[in-house]
Amino acid sequence: MAEAQNAPAGPDLALGVTPADFKNGMLLGHVGDQDVLLVQSGSSFFAIDAHCSHYHGPLADGLVVGESVRCPWHHACFDLRTGEAVRAPALSPLSVWKVDQQGGRIFVREKVDQKPAKRVPAQAPRRMVIVGGGAAGFAAAEMLRRDGYDGEITMLSSDTAPPVDRPNLSKDYLAGSAPEEWVPLRSDDFYPESRIDLRLSTSIEAINVKASELVLGNGKTLPYDRLLLATGAEPVKLPIPGADQPHVHLLRSLADCRAIIDNAKGAKRAIVIGASFIGLEVAAALRAREIEVHVVAPEQRPMERILGPDMGDFVRSLHEEHGVVFHLGDTVAVIDGKKATLKSGRVLEADLVVIGVGVRPRLTLAEQAGLAIDRGVSVNNHLQTSAPGIFAAGDIARWPDPHSGENIRVEHWVVAQRQGQTAARNMSGAREAYDAVPFFWSQHYDVPINYVGHAEAWDEIAIDGDIRGRDCMLRYKRKGRVLAVASIYRDVDSLKAELAMERNEKV
Ligand SMILES: Cc1cc2nc3c(=O)[nH]c(=O)nc-3n(C[C@H](O)[C@H](O)[C@H](O)COP(=O)(O)OP(=O)(O)OC[C@H]3O[C@@H](n4cnc5c(N)ncnc54)[C@H](O)[C@@H]3O)c2cc1C
Ligand code: FES
Repeated sequence: MAEAQNAPAGPDLALGVTPADFKNGMLLGHVGDQDVLLVQSGSSFFAIDAHCSHYHGPLADGLVVGESVRCPWHHACFDLRTGEAVRAPALSPLSVWKVDQQGGRIFVREKVDQKPAKRVPAQAPRRMVIVGGGAAGFAAAEMLRRDGYDGEITMLSSDTAPPVDRPNLSKDYLAGSAPEEWVPLRSDDFYPESRIDLRLSTSIEAINVKASELVLGNGKTLPYDRLLLATGAEPVKLPIPGADQPHVHLLRSLADCRAIIDNAKGAKRAIVIGASFIGLEVAAALRAREIEVHVVAPEQRPMERILGPDMGDFVRSLHEEHGVVFHLGDTVAVIDGKKATLKSGRVLEADLVVIGVGVRPRLTLAEQAGLAIDRGVSVNNHLQTSAPGIFAAGDIARWPDPHSGENIRVEHWVVAQRQGQTAARNMSGAREAYDAVPFFWSQHYDVPINYVGHAEAWDEIAIDGDIRGRDCMLRYKRKGRVLAVASIYRDVDSLKAELAMERNEKV
């Protein structure tokens, strides 16, 4: 995903440019060897690092909205005045640069000193406990400290690894093209330096709601003033005889991913069970390792339920072009060593099997605590559960989505992070509504699919452009109203659709 580092872009901004040099309110240039984006917003000019702090996306190809710029790749948003990453998936700020105007010319020469924010109310509760070291849990802890919260933060995770960039585990990291350092969301030092008490391999057994305390796996208790439940989801296991063998894998954690990578070394053939996003991303990653891949799934078209038939056909042909063999309308009946027998009677050989058939939210803790449950943990628009002081975010949370008008639960990285951030603010005393438009992306070889909104059912898909030409935008409509859009290489249109949905305007 990261772009190659080339020679500095555009004009030397230290030598000055004129407003006539701008295109669409932006001008990409450089100061020394650093790429800098100059932005005109109304009568103001801003200068900010030109590449997103998430995966280095080119902000010059993004969208300026007021005094912010949104990244074309995965819709992070940066404040042009402060450089702060105000919307995930970016978490780290960008540098902002001083802009001088002299004699009708605009000059950029030096960075501005950034001051830490102090947004937390003075009387914020003292003990914040977060259960979950994933997207939502990490984003919450990071936001508390970013906002200047100085009380205790304890983050408990049943994972063996500190929070990781989970989407990478089915993409570049699994394919072998991402270095090890891309995987952790922060270095190990971050946690002690930020006074976040991260306890790994720690399972929570129960929540004592009346006493406001957690019961840990070792029987000890941990009191909280505010609690965030961010336990995520776990991969669905299939009751296939032979699925308990060591070469049959699920994929959720870094440990799962490393086990697949180990198994992939020397493997010649793999079976992926499930033609979901994760299953097909795994197929692409294994093809990059030159492993023969067979995908077995009961549906007739991959991803049809979420993306519709035309996009489903495209995704299938894209994978076939890369050598993936599909066995659709079929399932694996039994795995006996390296032989997998399908329901159709066909026998496939595989050194490695990955099951990617969806996930189930981890609700046990919330259920035992007596929290209101509705196919997920029910939260209000402040992400508060039915119990005072307890919040929920990420894959487990079902929230009132103002855009669809429904209570929805989604399994998207960016949604989990943004919910973690909103929950963090509300835990420390704010009353911030969670109203972000859902967004996810999926990557198959060199084709990214971006999706904005939420459409569980639609009565029309309007296709603009050419899906096979990899230049398209699909609008999923119900009764004429656009509920969601999926796009390939229409990044600005995707950002504009997100903005229109936020503003309740026509998409
Ligand atoms: C391989 C892979 C690729 C993905 N790619 C994409 C993508 O490209 N785009 C996208 O939008 N989404 C993607 N997703 C989905 C995305 O990662 C999830 O939606 C997101 O991680 C959800 O965040 P979360 O914080 O709710 O849960 P998680 O990130 O799963 O974190 C849950 C945490 O809770 C901990 N936990 C659970 N139970 C307990 C307990 N009882 N006690 C203590 N700790 C507990 C777990 O150990 C874990 O640390 C992908 C998921 C996977 C697995
Ligand atoms: S590269 Fe900018 S949001 Fe991912």
